[in-house]
Amino acid sequence: MKDKAIIITGAAMGLGYATAKELASRGANLTLVDFNSDVLLDTVKKELSALYPSSTFISVKADVSKELEVKNYVDQTVKTFGKIDGLYNNAGIAGGPSEMTEYDMDLFKKVIEINLMGVYYGMRYTIPEMKKRNFGRIVNVASTAGIRGVFNMAPYVSSKHAVSGITKSAGIEYGQFNILTNAIAPGAILTPMLADVLKKINPVDPKAAEKAQSANNPTKRLGLPEEVAKFVAFLIAEENSYINGQTIAIDGGESQIFGTF
Ligand SMILES: NC(=O)c1ccc[n+]([C@@H]2O[C@H](COP(=O)([O-])OP(=O)(O)OC[C@H]3O[C@@H](n4cnc5c(N)ncnc54)[C@H](O)[C@@H]3O)[C@@H](O)[C@H]2O)c1
Repeated sequence: MKDKAIIITGAAMGLGYATAKELASRGANLTLVDFNSDVLLDTVKKELSALYPSSTFISVKADVSKELEVKNYVDQTVKTFGKIDGLYNNAGIAGGPSEMTEYDMDLFKKVIEINLMGVYYGMRYTIPEMKKRNFGRIVNVASTAGIRGVFNMAPYVSSKHAVSGITKSAGIEYGQFNILTNAIAPGAILTPMLADVLKKINPVDPKAAEKAQSANNPTKRLGLPEEVAKFVAFLIAEENSYINGQTIAIDGGESQIFGTF
């Protein structure tokens, strides 16, 4: 991926961080975006710059739910690299678990603003740049919760189904410009976000919650961020030449289960 310019949102930890490492190891130049403290994002930038000195890394602090901040990370990328080859639209939040009719309205709107509007703004500002060069690869992050329902997680489930929907729209509108847009639907992947969820399920023994979750999976284990990163690296590279508009599960097959017998 030498000379490719890729934007990664939510790059400070979890799936974004793992993908940044994977793409950097393949020679890509990266714009690392996160709203988390400058310190954390800058640490990632320093780590990658030390490991891969022939690539260029910039970090831009941005909240993906703020349109002007998204425009800024896109402008900074074009200013530095002169183009955008790929966008990994990954930043997202889970929102807390709560019954739908009792859900905190402000939190509901926040989940939609980050998970859906953040993904939309990213595409809104990068696609015109990609169109100029008749090339682009976009990977949006949905979830198994964008394919199936999850008890007491209505905003998250709604937002991730919407990510899958907007991915189909982008795929069919921009395929003609060699801009291929896909979504991934990770299952339970061991990141800081999942650690939080497991702590909420069983505050006394989160490991027991992890074990219970693993038992439901055909592979009897949870996924690793590096396993997701490898597939994202394929989808966001030129190597992917005909997969477009899809939502692809990375969940050990869990979303294919129906029934318990
Ligand atoms: N971990 C899982 O099991 C899992 C499963 C399915 C989908 N996902 C999705 O994968 C994506 C990444 O999740 P993760 O598990 O790595 O989460 P994480 O919480 O470990 O990391 C997310 C990163 O995104 C950043 N971020 C959050 N909101 C942001 C915003 N508004 N603007 C900029 N940065 C923001 C955070 O600061 C953090 O660095 C999310 O969209 C999540 O919904 C995760």
